[in-house]
Amino acid sequence: MTDLILSLDVTDRSEALRIAAAVAPEADAIKVGYPLVLAAGLGIAHDLAELGLPLIADFKVADIPNTNTLICEQVFAAGFSAVIAQGFPGPDSVLACVDAARAAGGECYVVAEMSHPGARTFFSEGVPERLCAIVAETGADGIIAPATRPERVRALREQVGTKKILSPGIGAQGGDPAAIAALVDGMIVGRSIYGAEDPAAAARAYAPYRR
Ligand code: C5P
Repeated sequence: MTDLILSLDVTDRSEALRIAAAVAPEADAIKVGYPLVLAAGLGIAHDLAELGLPLIADFKVADIPNTNTLICEQVFAAGFSAVIAQGFPGPDSVLACVDAARAAGGECYVVAEMSHPGARTFFSEGVPERLCAIVAETGADGIIAPATRPERVRALREQVGTKKILSPGIGAQGGDPAAIAALVDGMIVGRSIYGAEDPAAAARAYAPYRR
C-alpha cells in the first residue's frame, strides 16, 4: 500500500476544514503542522478527526526527553494518531516520543533526511543512516525521507527494512509520484493538492500511485 497523505498547511481554519472534507475520500491520512495549529489552535485536530482519517502531527519534535514527552502527550490527547520527531537530539529524546506514542496507541516517525535543497548541509555523510539506526534502536515506526531524491529513499530503505517510509516533496518541491510511490509507504502532498482550484480533483490525480 502506498498511502496518500494530505499535508494541510493552510492557515485559515474554515479553509482547512473545507479542503480536508473535500479531499478526505481521496486520501489515507492528514498531516497537520505548525502553520495550521498556530493559526487555528490544537483543537483543529478534534474537528479533523471527525473525518475518520489518521492524523499525523508534524511538529518535528526536537527537545530533551522530558519536554518531548510533555509535547507528545498533548499531541495524542488532542486526537492525533502519529507524531513526527527529529532524530538529531539523540535516541533518548526519540524514545520519549515513541513511549508517548505507544501509551496512546499511536505511532512515531523520525525525520531521516529533508527534501529541500539546503537539507544537504547537515543531512549528509552518513547522518541519515545514523538516524535510521536510532529508529531501529527506539522501535519507532518509520522515517520521513525525501521524494525529491528517490536514490536516497532507495538507500534508506536498505537501512529501515520493513519499517514505514513517508515521503514529502512530491509536486511543489519537484518530486515525481511515478518515481517514488513504489519505494515508500506514504506520499505526503501539500501545495499541489490544497493549492489547487479543485483540491479533490488534484488528490484524485494521485490515485494511480496509491496501491
Ligand atoms: O507543499 P508540499 O507538498 O511541499 O508540503 C510538504 C510538507 O512536508 C510540508 O508540510 C513540509 O513541512 C513537510 N516536510 C518536508 N520535508 C521533510 C519533512 C517534512 O517537506 N523532510
